[in-house]
Amino acid sequence: AHRGGGTLAPENTLGAIRLGAQLGFKGVEIDVMLAGDGTPVLMHDQTLKRTTRTHGEVAHTPYAHLAQLDAGAWRGARWRGERIPRFEDAARLCRELGLWANVEVKPAHGYERRTGEAVARMALELWNGADLPPVLSSFSSVALAAARQAAPQLPRGLLVGRLPPHWREMLRDLECVALHCNHRVLKPRVVEEARAAGCAVLAWTVNDARAARKLLGWGVDCVVTDRLDRVAPDLA
Ligand code: G3P
Ligand code: MG
Repeated sequence: AHRGGGTLAPENTLGAIRLGAQLGFKGVEIDVMLAGDGTPVLMHDQTLKRTTRTHGEVAHTPYAHLAQLDAGAWRGARWRGERIPRFEDAARLCRELGLWANVEVKPAHGYERRTGEAVARMALELWNGADLPPVLSSFSSVALAAARQAAPQLPRGLLVGRLPPHWREMLRDLECVALHCNHRVLKPRVVEEARAAGCAVLAWTVNDARAARKLLGWGVDCVVTDRLDRVAPDLA
């Protein structure tokens, strides 16, 4: 379930994660960025505008201030009062609900190394003793390299919007266990090659059941969806 509850809930909130679990999803994708004081929080955008309707940059705003903002009202009155959670709150909730987590390391520009390091270190603590660790994914190879250094034992996913020509080498060099690929650019040959190299393939963001079935038929291991109402969790 993308960003917790896809389009059915305010993204990257605890309410969204609870909804994903309630609807039967086995895993959630969340975006994690550092607040101004270094606290990892669930946030997709670098600015506060879209999801809290206030001004400011996440990377320049301390968590104490972020915690006061309403991150739910933009999705409708029933969600009013949802907050920007800390990564640790979200991780605890995932463990409590038995949800697997795809933790997307989402650094603000210039914070790639710091974010990869901080999120990996914290993830190691938060999932200590868990049967299934989270996967740390990122568009930033700097963040992935920093995550590897900080927590080499946590699995990593190489996140791509387009397939870079050297994707095979990138998977190998960053020691990733999975390719997280935009489903629009995914081809059966790529799925086959990645899996033959020992990597899982995750496709995002797949918003209709027919496309999801096709991808799963190609051997894709996981689909990430915004449409929790259309792409049933038991499809896989
Ligand atoms: O992890 C897949 C997806 O979340 C990547 O794109 O922009 O929704 O974080 P975005
Ligand atoms: Mg994401």
